[in-house]
Amino acid sequence: MKSMVIGGIILIIALMAGTYYVAGDAFSFGEDYINDLTMLAALAIIGITVFVALKYVNQIKNDTAGGELAEEKWDGIGEFKNAIPTGWGLAFIGTIIWGMWYWTVGYPTNSFSQIGQWNEETLEYNAKFESKWQNPDTATLNAMGESIYLVQCAPCHGVDAEGIDGKAQNLTKRISAASVEAVIKHGSLAIGPKAEGNLGYAMGMMPGQEGLFNANTGMPISDEEAKIVSAYIANGMTGEGAEIFAGVCSSCHGADGAGMEGMAPNLVAYDDTLVANVLTHGKKGITGTMPAFTGRLNETQTKALASYLRSLGE
Ligand code: HEC
Ligand code: HEC
Repeated sequence: MKSMVIGGIILIIALMAGTYYVAGDAFSFGEDYINDLTMLAALAIIGITVFVALKYVNQIKNDTAGGELAEEKWDGIGEFKNAIPTGWGLAFIGTIIWGMWYWTVGYPTNSFSQIGQWNEETLEYNAKFESKWQNPDTATLNAMGESIYLVQCAPCHGVDAEGIDGKAQNLTKRISAASVEAVIKHGSLAIGPKAEGNLGYAMGMMPGQEGLFNANTGMPISDEEAKIVSAYIANGMTGEGAEIFAGVCSSCHGADGAGMEGMAPNLVAYDDTLVANVLTHGKKGITGTMPAFTGRLNETQTKALASYLRSLGE
């Protein structure tokens, strides 16, 4: 017991010294009584804590238990037959009663909820939207696409869709020669955010330059050839480069560059699949990264955007 008290006193002195070392500046000796009171309170808490801890340690060491033991000893440790403390018992029963009240009267399971109302209204609105725009004609799609474009896309692609200072792709033409060259150089892997290809086509990633063979020469595509074919694509599949395209790219992108439905992207026009894929997966390219719009636009809206982008190129 004695050694414990001595130990406790040492602990108190150590804790007080520590407190003084850390926060002693606040102790103003009468200048600011709030700080002084706080400091005194801290010292009091230290003292009380140490003495309470000592009391319990002492009790654990010296107390002998008394009372009637319960018969069962499930885990080999005996238990006393102590009555449940009254306050605890009352609180337990009170909680059960309150729970029943809450479930049945206070906030019944199927009562009004704002989230539920919001969900219902959204479903209703979506159904209305779908029935209203079941088979929209091109003019309707373009008008719808334009209004969505101006809100969602213009901040990056510009009101006229020509890009802003090269920060996002110019959407009035399908793709720039520099973009195509970058894709040939690195493949879709190196500039895409996800290693498995980023646009969501079934073929996944596109191989980089070493993996692109020219069937006419049997050699990997050279820098020179890459330049020529990039210009060819950016010019809407006209000019020099048709042979290289046929030899290297057409097996995946199709003889006319219009892509293979769902397998590899259309390089000549913004078809519905490409726009839907870009909106779902986002895109990382030489001009920057476009965030995915997952879940924010429905199918009709996506088609409308694709139709609007096509109309810009005409
Ligand atoms: C083995 C099949 C394959 C070959 C060969 C191939 N590509 Fe691709 N290409 C793809 C796939 C798949 C994607 C989509 C990649 C993705 O999801 O990121 C793609 C993407 C692209 C893109 C990006 C499209 C966009 O909208 O940004 C360009 C540009 C491109 N390819 C150009 C070419 C050119 C030029 C060649 C020939 C020199 C070529 N590709 C050869 C499969 C191929
Ligand atoms: C935060 C900026 C940002 C917003 C918002 C944005 N984009 Fe983009 N978008 C980009 C960037 C950057 C690229 C170019 C990536 C690259 O260089 O290949 C791009 C590229 C594209 C492409 C070309 C993809 C390809 O494979 O060639 C399409 C199509 C496109 N965006 C459509 C849209 C539409 C539609 C919207 C509105 C719903 C939109 N973007 C909103 C930044 C944005």
